[in-house]
Amino acid sequence: MSARLGVNVDHVATLRQARRATYPDPVTAAALAELAGADQITIHLREDRRHIQDRDLLVLRKTVSTRLNLEMAAAQEMVKIAYEVKPEMVTLVPERREELTTEGGLDAVGGRDQVRRVVKTLRDADIEVSLFIDADLDQVKAAHRAEANTVEFHTGRYCDARLASDRRKELARLVDACKAAAKLGLQVAAGHGLNYQNVLPVAAIGEIEELNIGHAIVARGVLVGLERAVREMKELLARARP
Ligand code: PXP
Repeated sequence: MSARLGVNVDHVATLRQARRATYPDPVTAAALAELAGADQITIHLREDRRHIQDRDLLVLRKTVSTRLNLEMAAAQEMVKIAYEVKPEMVTLVPERREELTTEGGLDAVGGRDQVRRVVKTLRDADIEVSLFIDADLDQVKAAHRAEANTVEFHTGRYCDARLASDRRKELARLVDACKAAAKLGLQVAAGHGLNYQNVLPVAAIGEIEELNIGHAIVARGVLVGLERAVREMKELLARARP
């Protein structure tokens, strides 16, 4: 059976926020993604609200018919929001304001008390909890000790590796971490930087039940949809002067 696909619609919101407009709406994108077979909709409500807004989360909670996966920092403000909105799953991610995107995994070892507390609070509210961590055995063990349901492995190092030998090494690290996590009874997910060129070896790892992919899908959507969008505008211009 293939891995489930979580489609991350953050960058539809990025495009909207670039103009502070009302479109494109990530809610519409989520509905289309579900029609196309997405198994889950993933959004990251960042503390700086640079793309997804609180309104998006609230509307998506009402409209998503698969599963809603909310990525967020393990911060009090976010825990309160999750507690009220109740997504099916929360993925705890590290967050730094100056970063372009989530640059590394959560430190489940160093931040163990806080992570464990947040995991417990969310699980007590019947929300599944995933920890976004690097493919590292100590992090896997810490996630298990924190009683997370799932670990999502950060695939950035694999995706960014330029040399084939480095890429093979990163893939091997990922495979080892997936096996270790599955052995401990954790559900296994992966994501970050996956695209149409690099996804196959990761999607082939049997332990991975879910992949979360955003930027590459939204970026491809812009290009595969552009021709039609231009044609439709041309038709509109022609209609103005029959
Ligand atoms: N998984 C997690 C936990 C993430 O933080 C992100 C990025 O928001 C993704 C998956 C998707 O990454 P990308 O947009 O590079 O596909």
